[in-house]
Amino acid sequence: MFERSKRGDRAILLCPAPMEYERRSDHEEHMAEFKELAVSAGAEVLEVLVSTRQNVESKYYVGSGKAEELADLVKQHEADLVLVDAPLSPVQERNLERLVQARVLDRRTLILDIFSQRARSYEGQLQVELAQLKHMSTRLVRGWTHLERQKGGIGMRGPGETQLETDRRLLNARVKSLNAKLEKVMRQREQGRRQRKKSGTQMMALVGYTNAGKSTLFNILTDSKVYAKDQLFATLDPTVRQFTGIPGSQAVISDTVGFVRDLPHELVAAFRATLQEAMDADVLIHVIDDANPEHREHMKEVYQVLRELEIENVPIIEVYNKIDLSGKQPQWVEGGETVPDKVWLSSKSGAGVDLLLKVIEERIHSTHVSLRFTLPMTEARLRAQFYELDAVNEEHIDDGGNWCLTVELPLAKWHQMAKTGEGADAAFVADLLKQHDLEQDDTNQNW
Ligand code: GTP
Repeated sequence: MFERSKRGDRAILLCPAPMEYERRSDHEEHMAEFKELAVSAGAEVLEVLVSTRQNVESKYYVGSGKAEELADLVKQHEADLVLVDAPLSPVQERNLERLVQARVLDRRTLILDIFSQRARSYEGQLQVELAQLKHMSTRLVRGWTHLERQKGGIGMRGPGETQLETDRRLLNARVKSLNAKLEKVMRQREQGRRQRKKSGTQMMALVGYTNAGKSTLFNILTDSKVYAKDQLFATLDPTVRQFTGIPGSQAVISDTVGFVRDLPHELVAAFRATLQEAMDADVLIHVIDDANPEHREHMKEVYQVLRELEIENVPIIEVYNKIDLSGKQPQWVEGGETVPDKVWLSSKSGAGVDLLLKVIEERIHSTHVSLRFTLPMTEARLRAQFYELDAVNEEHIDDGGNWCLTVELPLAKWHQMAKTGEGADAAFVADLLKQHDLEQDDTNQNW
């Protein structure tokens, strides 16, 4: 006798090897990751069926012999779910479901399901629902009459339970209303971001491949507990917390969703919002699992996505985490203007974390710009603003009755004042920055 998993998701995995995998090890790594995804979604993986045939068949995606083999396995294990590591067409999904008499989900639906389980913020939930609805709209044709519908379970959560059988018109109306809500939430977030910038608070964001250890490091740097578990995507929504690593520093830090290979295109768009904090960061901390032999590939993928999101001109600190497993020593290799600082540490043992704090301290200070200038008495409002920001380091009055000020602010704050301040104030700051060759690079402005 065997125990049924609590959620009833007893799964068989089908992993076809597509053309791109030239090496056997590539396929094995993908399989291991897909298995982790399945476990992350709460499935109990009973068996993994591999198909090495490289061409895609139109009926079942895999050949009919392999599909029959799959059906036998489902029967033998009394599985109720088949997860296929490939993008299935709605027809292929339906054909397979008919044959194996179990629910069949492809990679995209599985990832969406994980996202729907993990979304915590209102915005994250809206984003996931939107992505699910969009994905579903391509699958509305299939109808679910050939399978007994069950409540809950992987791929059946969220709008799936209520919307699958509604028509396209209703679905579109829901998408429209979600979009409107999202716009409102994003506006609110934008306001929060402006306030943070206004107060001169530095923003750091942790990014990295899934399971690299972002949440664990986040806990150390913020002295707080967020959900960190050995599950893929343990963090879906960015959480912003006060950075407590350096006493007295005015900085916040946010944790972002983990990157994953082959993230379906529609999900990249849906999760752009979860990377908003990264887009707005003054410093990015890229967490890398130094013990994972594939970490170079993972890094490439992270940088690729950052490029796609136009997050390119932000200083980066590369954290090579898990040195307790990789056997390296704590180390800091100093970077430069365009070269990331590199730090080797273990978030688990704490070794090397002190080095990271030093780098952060340097980075935070290096982005602060101190300017000395003369302010005419007519600019009293601007002077008051500098005092409000607690940014005035020195002041005296010259013979002409003008203020001579030394003001220190994050560069981003200077730029923001030049751009969005009141007319004359903004013009004064813009001119000041021009004199010091500190005008904002326009490539940064499209975010
Ligand atoms: P996602 O939320 O999936 O993106 O993952 P994450 O990058 O936030 O990783 P998380 O902090 O959840 O850590 C993943 C697993 O790695 C957990 O089991 C951690 O305990 C473990 N881990 C994190 N840092 C270290 C480390 O320095 N050494 C070791 N041995 N394990 C670590």
